[in-house]
Amino acid sequence: MTDPAAGVDPSEPSIARVYDYLLGGTDNHAVDRAVGDYFLRDLPGSVEIAFANRRALVRAVGAMADDGLRQFVDLGSGLPTADNVHQVAQRHRPGARVVYVDNDPVVLAHGRALLAADDRTAVVQADLRAPEGIRDHPEVVGLIDFEEPVGLVFSAVLHHLDDDERPADLVRWWADRVPSGSLVYISHFRSGGNEETRLAQQKLQDTLGRGRWRTDEEITALFGDLELLQPGLVNCPLWRPDPAPGEAGSGERELTVWERMISCGLARKP
Ligand SMILES: C[S@@+](CC[C@H](N)C(=O)[O-])C[C@H]1O[C@@H](n2cnc3c(N)ncnc32)[C@H](O)[C@@H]1O
Repeated sequence: MTDPAAGVDPSEPSIARVYDYLLGGTDNHAVDRAVGDYFLRDLPGSVEIAFANRRALVRAVGAMADDGLRQFVDLGSGLPTADNVHQVAQRHRPGARVVYVDNDPVVLAHGRALLAADDRTAVVQADLRAPEGIRDHPEVVGLIDFEEPVGLVFSAVLHHLDDDERPADLVRWWADRVPSGSLVYISHFRSGGNEETRLAQQKLQDTLGRGRWRTDEEITALFGDLELLQPGLVNCPLWRPDPAPGEAGSGERELTVWERMISCGLARKP
C-alpha cells in the first residue's frame, strides 16, 4: 500500500527508516522495525555501527567547517536526527549553507518541516547515482557556489551502491566539479572478514537488497587521487576522537567487533 501524499510504501523497508529506528528515532514503520529488530536481537552490539558512524560525522563536519568550508552537499543524508549536518556546520561556522540530498521521500518531507525557517539549508529528493540532476538542481545552484570550496559528504551511503554502480566514479565526478581546497568525507561499512560481516551483509541484502561491506583497500580506492588527511582511513571511533572517558576512541578500551566494521576518512582536493 502506498501513501500517495508522501510517495511512501510502508510495506517495504527503507534504508533511511531502518537507520532512523536503530538511532532511536520514530520516523519508521513496522516493516522497518522488523529489520532493525533483527540487528538488535540477533546481532547484539551491531547498532554501534550506526552510532559510531553518526558521532564521526559530527566530528568530521565540525572539522570541515573549522578548516574554512562554508558550504556542504550531504549526499544520502538520511532522516533528521540529533545534531544534523547544518546544525554542526553552523555551530562551527555561522552562516554555513547545506544541501541535503536523499532519494527517500520521507527524508524530503521531514527535512522540509525541520528547515522551513532556515534559508541557508535545503533538502532535495534525488538519486545520487544521477549526479548531473543534483548538481544542476535549482535548490543546489541557489545555495552552493561551485567556484568556492565545497564539503562533499558521503556518510554511510556508498556501501548502499553495488560495485557495478561504480561508487568511485561517482566520488570522482563530484571531485572534478569542485575547486581545489574542497573536502570529501566518506564513511563506509568495513569488512572485518568475519562471521559478523557475513551475517550483517546477508541480512541487509535479504531485506533492503543493498549493503556491501568493503575492505580497507576498496574503501581507500573510493577517494581516488584525493589527498587523505590525518589520520587516514580508520575505524570511525578512532577518527580524530573526542570521546568521554571509558568510551571507544578514548584509548581506555578496545573497539568492539562492530565498531571495527565502519570506517571513515576525510580528503582534500589538491
Ligand atoms: C545509512 S543512511 C545514512 C544517513 C546519514 N548520511 C548518516 O550517515 O547518518 C543512508 C542514506 O542514504 C540514502 N540513500 C541510499 N541510496 C541512495 C541513493 N541511490 N540516492 C540517494 N540517497 C540514497 C538512504 O535513503 C539513507 O537515507
